[in-house]
Amino acid sequence: MKVGIPKEILGNETRVAAVADTVGKMTKGGIEVLVETGAGAASFVSDEEYVKAGAKIVDSPEVLFAESDVVLKVQRPVLNSKTKKHEADMMKEGAVLITFLQPLANLDSVVKLASKKITSFSMDAVPRISRAQMMDALSSMSTVAGYKAVLLAANSLKRFIPMLSTAAGTVYPAKAVVIGAGVAGLQAIATAKRLGAVVTGFDTRPAAGEQIRSLGGEFVPMNVDHSQAEDAGGYAREMSSDFYRQEQEIIRKYTKEADIIITTALIPGRPAPTLITEEMVKEMKAGSVIVDLVVEQGGNCALSEPGKEVVKHDVSIIGTLNLPGTIPVHASQLYSRNVLNFLYLLAPDKKDLKIDFNDEIVKGSVVTHNGEILNEKVKEAASKGDTAFPSGPTSRSHW
Ligand code: NAI
Repeated sequence: MKVGIPKEILGNETRVAAVADTVGKMTKGGIEVLVETGAGAASFVSDEEYVKAGAKIVDSPEVLFAESDVVLKVQRPVLNSKTKKHEADMMKEGAVLITFLQPLANLDSVVKLASKKITSFSMDAVPRISRAQMMDALSSMSTVAGYKAVLLAANSLKRFIPMLSTAAGTVYPAKAVVIGAGVAGLQAIATAKRLGAVVTGFDTRPAAGEQIRSLGGEFVPMNVDHSQAEDAGGYAREMSSDFYRQEQEIIRKYTKEADIIITTALIPGRPAPTLITEEMVKEMKAGSVIVDLVVEQGGNCALSEPGKEVVKHDVSIIGTLNLPGTIPVHASQLYSRNVLNFLYLLAPDKKDLKIDFNDEIVKGSVVTHNGEILNEKVKEAASKGDTAFPSGPTSRSHW
């Protein structure tokens, strides 16, 4: 089996789908690995390191795509401006693609992949079950994002975070509020605590309380019963607009006092609920900072803008996109391991593909196969040309 690692070309993507360590594992197991020249450069993996790990460096993306039985990528396939060909069109018929496909938001790519009889898998659709944890790339990326969100906030904040006792007096610690205590939120809480902030965490799932407390944060319960707040899979349920209004009132007492707010509240596949209104921003302390991690799904803060840091009512509101791409070394390292584990699911002898389409993880994440769109929701959306589904490059699809 030949596995290809192209250079990412969408936006300013810095991540790569295989680092030298995972390439070494593949080649030792008897897999041939082709890497496009410079594919790892933005993640600080040189061509020489790939060669040492047993890969062959290929200059032309056309050759790489045409020769690979399996292509490992980070971003969805797009038009390559150098070759003037779409990446899906450069793939060989019947090959396998593993990437963050976000199919409901990228139906054009899905249709192309189906027409080329590509078997495509979307890493954002790997089900959140115990057996799939080692393939859960979204959780890996959310860990990176939660950490970086706090660093961005610290950088824009005009004051210290930790408490300092100095000869010139005492500096009191910053107050951080984290809304949504899933993977990104918990990492934000841990990072803010490490920097010395006093942290308060909110989540509609009562179960999140114990995790917030175990990281040293205060949990503010929202008086919502477990069955209302959580579905059978442990995901938060969408609540009524009345509930969100009540939540705003509960949060408001804390946002008024906060120096840093990190928001990550999302129901998979739904637009983000507005939890911080403009009125609430007006009441915040001058010089405080909001980092809205769900800005691409509409934002938890009414004033956040995708890809921008704006100052409104003396509050900095950060809507940076692709935070994992700002920490490419470790984002690529974690993603590569998730992708390799996924590849081994498809090739249990770690050498040749033997895909079990009855496997729960395979069934959950396969998008196209043998000329067809296998996922019903994606198929339906493609037949209607529907692209209104809220999604971002890192959001958890719930198909
Ligand atoms: P997750 O599903 O683990 O966590 C979301 C949490 O929000 C859950 O614990 C849920 O119970 C909670 N929640 C839902 N509605 C709520 C509400 N009304 N009030 C309080 N809590 C509520 O998701 P994860 O992996 O932590 O990701 C969170 C978000 O961060 C996703 O939308 C993802 O797209 C985004 N993200 C953004 C990145 C960026 O670069 N901007 C990178 C990675 C993730």
